[in-house]
Amino acid sequence: MSLTEEQMREFRAKRYNATVTHLEKRHDDLLVMRVKLDNPRAAYLSGQYCTLGLANFEERAEGCQPESLSVDDLLKLVRRSYSISSSVFRDGDTIRDPADDDWLEFYIVLVRENPDGRVPALTPRLFNLRVGDRISVGEKIAGHFTLSPVQPGDSVIFLSTGTGEAPHNSMLADLLRTGHTGKIVAACCVRYRRDLGYTETHDRLMKLYPHYRYLPLTTREASRTGKVYIQDLIGSGELDQHLKDLGATGLDPATTHVFLCGNPKMIGIPAKSKETGLWEYPQPPGVIEILEGRGFRADNPMLKIEGNIHFEKYW
Ligand SMILES: Cc1cc2nc3c(=O)[nH]c(=O)nc-3n(C[C@H](O)[C@H](O)[C@H](O)COP(=O)(O)OP(=O)(O)OC[C@H]3O[C@@H](n4cnc5c(N)ncnc54)[C@H](O)[C@@H]3O)c2cc1C
Ligand SMILES: NC(=O)c1ccc[n+]([C@@H]2O[C@H](COP(=O)([O-])OP(=O)(O)OC[C@H]3O[C@@H](n4cnc5c(N)ncnc54)[C@H](OP(=O)(O)O)[C@@H]3O)[C@@H](O)[C@H]2O)c1
Repeated sequence: MSLTEEQMREFRAKRYNATVTHLEKRHDDLLVMRVKLDNPRAAYLSGQYCTLGLANFEERAEGCQPESLSVDDLLKLVRRSYSISSSVFRDGDTIRDPADDDWLEFYIVLVRENPDGRVPALTPRLFNLRVGDRISVGEKIAGHFTLSPVQPGDSVIFLSTGTGEAPHNSMLADLLRTGHTGKIVAACCVRYRRDLGYTETHDRLMKLYPHYRYLPLTTREASRTGKVYIQDLIGSGELDQHLKDLGATGLDPATTHVFLCGNPKMIGIPAKSKETGLWEYPQPPGVIEILEGRGFRADNPMLKIEGNIHFEKYW
């Protein structure tokens, strides 16, 4: 037994509340998408996220891990969280103010398969969408990963892997639009150069804003220097040097906020050991362990610590 067209139509009419208005594939597995909600969307702070959802009966993109679902499962909405991204520029060199836009931008990678866990459910369906298609968007926009701890004049460092640069782009736009005078460095580590979806934007920004620097890292291109992870930028002193080149005192915990987003192994969030009851860093070391060794402190909501390392974990 399968679903009827009528059942699918009814489901979409009842559960979908937004329309895809813009869709740009950076390559087959990487997209920038904008959606417009039927109702006025909630205000939000840059760095926050909301959910996107599609029914299980929607087609999956070709070449993705197969999924076996019962007829009952087909009429369920599959939802995932997505940070709100930003293409930063509006017209010419003007920086976007999200308050002026009635849509939300997302930056999404296709997860074709997941050998270690559940079959990827949403991205194979998102990558089949076309402009004009309908989608479910969670009306609540939430998250603590925002610029609220940053003081005027602070240095701000955004460190990401892959699509982890999405919330950073929103925060970056906010800082530049509001005239933040502190130095800003954004580094993003991806497998291949083609996985850097906003390179043009960052190149333009560096020309316009001398206190901003973007550092792209690729780990799977043929290179003479070998693999450089985000963690290595800190260990080698390269990040310090970039800050100094911009006129800051380097990675100074008193005046610097670091934002981390993307692969949890890059972030390295400490967890409380069941055996010892102590907080332990995952191994090999992520950015949090390295920076805490240099006097920084990560946020820890369980211990009510508001530090100067802030992070968003995607999985
Ligand atoms: C607060 C928050 C914000 C998020 N924002 C984004 C975003 O802006 N863009 C985005 O692409 N994803 C984002 N994610 C991840 C997103 O929610 C989904 O998990 C992802 O799109 C895969 O969905 P799926 O159903 O296909 O597979 P899932 O079953 O959700 O994930 C399967 C596996 O895919 C891998 N994976 C998931 N997300 C990523 C990713 N972004 N990059 C690399 N590997 C990944 C992990 O190994 C995961 O276990 C965010 C997650 C959270 C919690
Ligand atoms: N990127 C693609 O070309 C591509 C294409 C098709 C499908 N996908 C799928 O998309 C999903 C996400 O891929 P993604 O490339 O965006 O994300 P990702 O796998 O998290 O990789 C992003 C970057 O993080 C690096 N990284 C890995 N482990 C790290 C660690 N311990 N510390 C610091 N950095 C680390 C990766 O380097 P390494 O090179 O060492 O991994 C890579 O440069 C995966 O499911 C993948 O199968 C990706």
